Amino acid sequence: MTAAWSRKDLLGLEDLNREEISLILSTAESFKEVSTREIKKVPALRGKTVVNLFYEPSTRTRVSFEIAAKRLSADVINIASETSSVRKGETLIDTGRNIEALKVDIIVVRHNYSGAAVMLGRSVKASVINAGDGWHEHPTQALLDIFTLKEKLGRIEGIKVSIVGDIAHSRVARSNIWGLTKLGANVTVCAPKILIPPAIEEMGVKVVTDIDEALARSDAVNVLRMQFERDGESAFPRQLEYFKNFGITRERLKKAKKDIIIMHPGPLNRGVEISSEIADGLNSVILEQVTNGIAVRMAAMFLVAQANENISHETPD
Ligand code: CP
Repeated sequence: MTAAWSRKDLLGLEDLNREEISLILSTAESFKEVSTREIKKVPALRGKTVVNLFYEPSTRTRVSFEIAAKRLSADVINIASETSSVRKGETLIDTGRNIEALKVDIIVVRHNYSGAAVMLGRSVKASVINAGDGWHEHPTQALLDIFTLKEKLGRIEGIKVSIVGDIAHSRVARSNIWGLTKLGANVTVCAPKILIPPAIEEMGVKVVTDIDEALARSDAVNVLRMQFERDGESAFPRQLEYFKNFGITRERLKKAKKDIIIMHPGPLNRGVEISSEIADGLNSVILEQVTNGIAVRMAAMFLVAQANENISHETPD
């Protein structure tokens, strides 16, 4: 039986089941080929309008959603909070409803508050895709990470993935953990104790504080950025000390599998969580992750738009 997608929004991977996650990944596989064509466009979302509503800085995610929407033939508008009426005090919900009044079909939102995308999704009939909300989730990043792992290893079931770094502040870690564990991967998180959130084991992961132990058990390592902007420098002030104890370097990888896959969601802090030599080295798939983001976001937008067309939005009497 073919899995079906019936959600108008993509808000996180916690709510999705294995079949829904697999459907996004298989839809992305079909869309990946579009970007290899001379004319990189299909008419799947022709006549639809996508708004990228970003309340936080972004390079990869915003551009990737814009390219993905254009490859599906949608019209795209980018709104950055610094240049919008948000500066005049407009709330997220009011902004969303006004955007919807302009007959927009999909709102892609990045916000510094956890739960912002869920709140917006409940307030508008347009589809909402979470492009990262606070420390909560970044579903399309995790999906492109998983897509890349599946391309490299041929499967997700049974693979060993370590997520290393600032787990406490990381929406990328949370979405990866939900997605990978639902698909049957063995996930380890590794960080200094201060950067491991309480009760993280309840998400089905192993916790280690020894980076060599984490690397030794891994088919792949997803290296997280130290999020100094979220916690000032208070949580882990000594960047050099972090690099010495947890940084992914050539020396450290000598104890890992020779073909270990090195991932990073970006942006990189070179010399803080990863050395340049490893970030740019043969085991790194960091730029392939970025490329795969287009196909994954095409799939996400296609599926939510299609589902939303099938949902009745008639106002009750
Ligand atoms: N990985 C990621 O979300 O990068 P950006 O902040 O550049 O979008």
